[in-house]
Amino acid sequence: MDLNARWQADLESWAIPDEILRTTTVNPWLHNVQRMSRRAASEISAPAGPTYDRARQAMGESVLDVGAGAGAASLPLEPAELIAVDQNPEMLAELGRLRPDARLIEGRWPDVEAPEADVVVCAHVVYNVPELAQFLVALDDHARKRVVVELSDVHPTSWLNPLWEHFHGLVRPTRPTSDDAAEIAASLGFDVTLESRPAPEPMFPSAEEMADSACRRLCLDPSRAPEVIAAAEALGVWPSRPRTFITMWWDVRK
Ligand SMILES: C[S@@+](CC[C@H](N)C(=O)[O-])C[C@H]1O[C@@H](n2cnc3c(N)ncnc32)[C@H](O)[C@@H]1O
Repeated sequence: MDLNARWQADLESWAIPDEILRTTTVNPWLHNVQRMSRRAASEISAPAGPTYDRARQAMGESVLDVGAGAGAASLPLEPAELIAVDQNPEMLAELGRLRPDARLIEGRWPDVEAPEADVVVCAHVVYNVPELAQFLVALDDHARKRVVVELSDVHPTSWLNPLWEHFHGLVRPTRPTSDDAAEIAASLGFDVTLESRPAPEPMFPSAEEMADSACRRLCLDPSRAPEVIAAAEALGVWPSRPRTFITMWWDVRK
C-alpha cells in the first residue's frame, strides 16, 4: 500500500461505528467555533513557537491560511494581506470579526479557488484530510516562499481513547501520526523540517467544557456529563494531559 493510501486507510479506521452514530443527531466530528476563537485569542496574545517563527521568517506581504478556523495560525503574523480559506462559514465569520480586512474564501481545500501568497499556513487540519498528498501539493502550489503546517503528533481526538473503551468498549487506533504526514510530504519531494513544541494551553478550561465536548464526540447524551467527568478523572483523561504540536515546514522550489 502506498503512503497516501495508508494514510487514508488509517484515517478511515477512526470512523465511528454506525450502531453508535445512529444514537445521536449531532455531528460528533464538528469543530467548535468558540474553542477555535479562544485558541486564536491565545496565539494572538502571546505569539511564539516554531509555526509562528518559521512563517514570520519567510513572510512578505501576504499569508494564505488554509482551514483557518478563527485564525490562530495567521492572525498573530499580522500580514499586510491575509487570505483565509475554510469550509465552515461560522469560522470565517469569527476570523472576519477579528480581522475585518481579511479576504475570506468559503470552501473545501484543495477544490476551492484561492490566490497565491508568500507564505501558506495550515494548522490542525490534516487529520481531516483523506487525500493528503493532493492537499499538500495544493498548499505548495499556492506558496511563493514557504509552507508551514502544524499538526498534533497523534490524532487530535486521541485524548478520548480511554473514554471510548470505557463507554463503548471500543479500542481506538493509534495511527496516522505526524511522522506519517511528514513521510508523505517528503515523498512528494518537499524538503521537510520538523520541529515540536508543547501545546501552549490545555484543550479545555474546565471539566464541564471537556465533558460537553466528550459527550458530543462519544455520541452520549449531554445529561451524562457528570458520569463522563467521573470516568475521565478515574482514567487520567482529566485534568488534560499535555499535548505536543509538530511544525512541518518547507521552502518551495519554483
Ligand atoms: C481544528 S480547526 C483548526 C483551525 C485553525 N487553523 C487553528 O489552528 O485554530 C480545523 C479547521 O479546518 C477546517 N477544515 C477542515 N478540512 C478542511 C478543508 N479540506 N478545506 C477547508 N477547511 C477545512 C474546519 O472547518 C476547521 O475550521
